[in-house]
Amino acid sequence: MELRGFHRLLQGFMLLFLIGTCHARFVVEKNSLTVTSPEKIKGTRDSAIGNFGVPKYGGSMAGVLVYPKENQKACKSFDEFRISFKSKPGSLPTFVLVDRGDCLFALKVWNVQQAGASAVLVADDIEEALITMDTPEEGHSSVKYIENITIPSALIEKTFGDTLKKAISGGDRVNVNLDWREAVPHPDDRVEYELWTNSNDECGVKCDILMGFLKDFKGIAQVLEKGGYTQFTPHYITWYCPGAFTLSRQCKSQCINHGRYCAPDPEQDFSSGYEGKDVVIENLRQLCVFRVANETNRPWVWWDYVTDFQIRCPMKEKKYNKECADTVIRSLGLDDKKIKKCMGDPDADADNPVLKEEQEAQVGKGSRGDVTILPTLVVNNHQYRGKLAKGAVLKAICAGFEETTEPAVCLTSDVETNECLDNNGGCWQDKAANLTACKDTFRGRICKCPLANGVQFKGDGYSHCEPGGPGRCRINNGGCWHESRHGIAYSACLDEGDVKCKCPPGFKGDGVNSCQDIDECNEKKACQCPECSCKDTWGSYECTCSGDLLYIREHDTCISKTRTEVRSSWAAIWVILIGLAMAGGGTYLVYKYQLRSYMDSEIRAIMAQYMPLDSQAEVPNHLSDSNRA
Ligand SMILES: *[C@@H]1O[C@H](CO)[C@@H](O)[C@H](O)[C@H]1NC(C)=O
Ligand SMILES: *[C@@H]1O[C@H](CO)[C@@H](O)[C@H](O)[C@H]1NC(C)=O
Ligand SMILES: *[C@@H]1O[C@H](CO)[C@@H](O)[C@H](O)[C@H]1NC(C)=O
Repeated sequence: MELRGFHRLLQGFMLLFLIGTCHARFVVEKNSLTVTSPEKIKGTRDSAIGNFGVPKYGGSMAGVLVYPKENQKACKSFDEFRISFKSKPGSLPTFVLVDRGDCLFALKVWNVQQAGASAVLVADDIEEALITMDTPEEGHSSVKYIENITIPSALIEKTFGDTLKKAISGGDRVNVNLDWREAVPHPDDRVEYELWTNSNDECGVKCDILMGFLKDFKGIAQVLEKGGYTQFTPHYITWYCPGAFTLSRQCKSQCINHGRYCAPDPEQDFSSGYEGKDVVIENLRQLCVFRVANETNRPWVWWDYVTDFQIRCPMKEKKYNKECADTVIRSLGLDDKKIKKCMGDPDADADNPVLKEEQEAQVGKGSRGDVTILPTLVVNNHQYRGKLAKGAVLKAICAGFEETTEPAVCLTSDVETNECLDNNGGCWQDKAANLTACKDTFRGRICKCPLANGVQFKGDGYSHCEPGGPGRCRINNGGCWHESRHGIAYSACLDEGDVKCKCPPGFKGDGVNSCQDIDECNEKKACQCPECSCKDTWGSYECTCSGDLLYIREHDTCISKTRTEVRSSWAAIWVILIGLAMAGGGTYLVYKYQLRSYMDSEIRAIMAQYMPLDSQAEVPNHLSDSNRA
């Protein structure tokens, strides 16, 4: 029952139709299994993804590993042994290790799932390379429960299984992490995927699953395709009739183009109902529908065609034929002449280019093995493992996008968990400003400092983010000190330059946590002239002069309001000026130079107002022509 390496697919079908070689190339798809404790067996190994249940593509799961004392092969229900694997609320989920052998892989997983576990590890019973645990062949009673398996499963090598069992029986608590994040390559922002399908709708459970999947998945597939997120290609398997048998009755009824392209008889009864070649022809039509739709840049119309055809033209109602197909084609606005041309002549003893390409594509390339079973889904050239169901498949496709490029449909709660909701994903956040560095992606979360109000935050994203670059002071004052009192606001944030926070004039401090008012009066910073009287204010000071004097803030001094008297330092300048004037023409240039370098515009203004400059012969013109009262 366990299919190793080679998959037979011609169930009930004549073995005449072989795929060219008996050794089909089969690739075991893997995920990784990490033991996180105990210390002595820590490490990461590969495990093989089971081809049923729901692998958590793009995700990972941590759990405590249990090896049951009884029913170790899990072939019986654990109820009989009164064993339950349900984990207590808040504790890690239980993973169960079981042994290979005696019954179907799927049955083991089903029994463990029924007992409440979250994942199953199956230990191989012989030393060999990893194999894929497959679903049983059709007709087996197991198909009843197989669709209800929802937990992931993985096969591990015998020696690794022995190591785990030894640790568990030795009393260690074994914690493991199953990781599917790298199970699908995710190189860029577009996922290429292909479905190997079949138009046959009467092959039992497998066909029902496939038809159901097409219907369920159509909506999402079309959204992804229209948005340019994916490039989907449908494929169809055909077999060929060995040369010696091309003229036999069987080959004639199941093949077209003289034994080149064949499909099994739908009812496996050569004398009644539809024949294999009817299936080949409809498959060919569906391929051509895709090609013609793709040529007009509407590849998603294929999904409409196959689902409509399924509903309107079922074999059961004897409508599985060209007439019915043509009505569907026309209703979708497809060019039926082009489709007819693409299909060619099924009776010709010649290759059909479309089907020939399909047969060539069946052979594995690169990371993908040969396609020998239906249905087969390939995502980014890796074969999908797991059940063919909407949610499970969407996970695998979503896992194929480079982080942060996944479409919105991948970030809904039924596809992935938003890791930013739990403790903000361990990323930086500023709750007050409603800012976070956590960005949810399909494969987990990333911590990246946000862009808010046009200002890019900078930092490691985990413990630290702060506004950077121009405009940073707009956001929370750039993390610098700021305060306002009585309608006056001060901020220590500097928008430009390397220094981010610096206390404004009138304050001292680190600029980040605090800036304290400088008491200019007591610290003798200003307003210290004999006539001055000083009063400190927040961020500044007030200075008044006694008597008739006027305080000039820029020069921190008092001057007379009258025209004749100038006090303090102005008197000194006056004396110098007189001296220089008296020194005569020889010193004129020196005088002029000194005058200019001493006097800024304010001094000039003041002097023009308070000094009798117009009586001086040597008054420079530019001083005398302004502000004359
Ligand atoms: C599987 O699930 C379906 C729907 O939930 C249910 O009707 C059916 O009985 C289940 N089958 C088994 C074998 O548990
Ligand atoms: C569909 O069209 C795209 C681009 O137009 C092309 O790259 C791709 O090969 C086509 N697929 C098939 C199967 O013709
Ligand atoms: C915080 O921001 C997010 C999106 O940026 C928004 O959806 C949410 O409503 C905001 N919350 C508050 C409390 O402002």
